[in-house]
Amino acid sequence: MIGELYVEDKSRLAFEPTTKPVPADERAKLLADPGFGRVFTDHMAIIEYDESKGWHDARVTARHPFKMDPASPVLHYAQEIFEGMKAYRRPGGGVALFRPDANARRFAKSAIRLAMPPLPEEMFLESVRGLVRADREWIPETEDGSLYLRPFMIANGSFLGMRPSTEFIYAVIASSVGAYFKGNAPSVSLWVTREYVRAAPGGTGEAKCGGNYAGSLIAQAEAIRNGCDQVVFLDAIERRWVEELGGMNVFFVFDDGSIRTPPLDGTILHGVTRDSLLTLARDMGAPVREEPYSIEQWKADAESGRLTEAFACGTAAVVTPIGRVKGVDGEFTIGGQSVGPLTMRLRSALVDIQRGHAPDPYGWTE
Ligand code: COI
Repeated sequence: MIGELYVEDKSRLAFEPTTKPVPADERAKLLADPGFGRVFTDHMAIIEYDESKGWHDARVTARHPFKMDPASPVLHYAQEIFEGMKAYRRPGGGVALFRPDANARRFAKSAIRLAMPPLPEEMFLESVRGLVRADREWIPETEDGSLYLRPFMIANGSFLGMRPSTEFIYAVIASSVGAYFKGNAPSVSLWVTREYVRAAPGGTGEAKCGGNYAGSLIAQAEAIRNGCDQVVFLDAIERRWVEELGGMNVFFVFDDGSIRTPPLDGTILHGVTRDSLLTLARDMGAPVREEPYSIEQWKADAESGRLTEAFACGTAAVVTPIGRVKGVDGEFTIGGQSVGPLTMRLRSALVDIQRGHAPDPYGWTE
């Protein structure tokens, strides 16, 4: 039954090293300027699930394509979830993961929402650690470089009836990455979509499932057509409350030094970066509110100068300043499109912990 797990002994993570690793000189070329999500490592982790065996055959093995039946439910009904997390090089040669336990918990919650068997958190952590151990040479040495880890779970099998699957594949792939937003601009621009919504109450908005992202792509394409980097979604009911960007959370900074971000009301992803920044901001003494903020107020506050900074955040985006917001009814800029001091202070505090350049009083790195 979904949610009840039998984990057999074979769930211990085996290591089957690839017989065809990418040669070191080729890897070095790829790591010099990896971009985001284009360069993949030698290995992947896999754990399989079916109702009789539970989770089984856990292994780190050579990265390879899946062989799937064309009637696999993930291909038809999008029964799929994923995570995004990073491993960083540390001074002195170590490697650290950032809050992997938070990703493990969120992954289990997403699984339950998508009627999938939650992977035990320890197995999630072991699979991620095992893959990082195997592919640590793939972490770029560039300033923004890290190993982006993408755990995911898909419904496997062969049937077209509408019911949760009973067979699943969990896997982790790793990608050597640099900055998510490339280019020399100090900030990104947003397009406010009025036509599309990302999530509605009772839906899957707070789960990290592929369907949420598939549904947002048309609005992201609209943003790009309008010369913007990212789309911003409003709520589904009143169509005025700012919720989330296409793939990241959003924060606002005011002239009194206070910070606001939309509350987690069921339609917004519980971002690990979002949560970490709230903690860092509180500990810096900044008044923090998790409260709704309307698009009209955002425009009015940006124009009056009450809003001094805004930024996007996420594992991929880290902390990225927002400089310009555009929609069908015009556009406005924030803080003269320059990079705000509190945004940069928060970014540095976070990145310094992640990369081991500052002590980690929260126990976030391992
Ligand atoms: C992440 O930040 O890890 C994400 O999942 C965003 C992704 C859609 C690029």
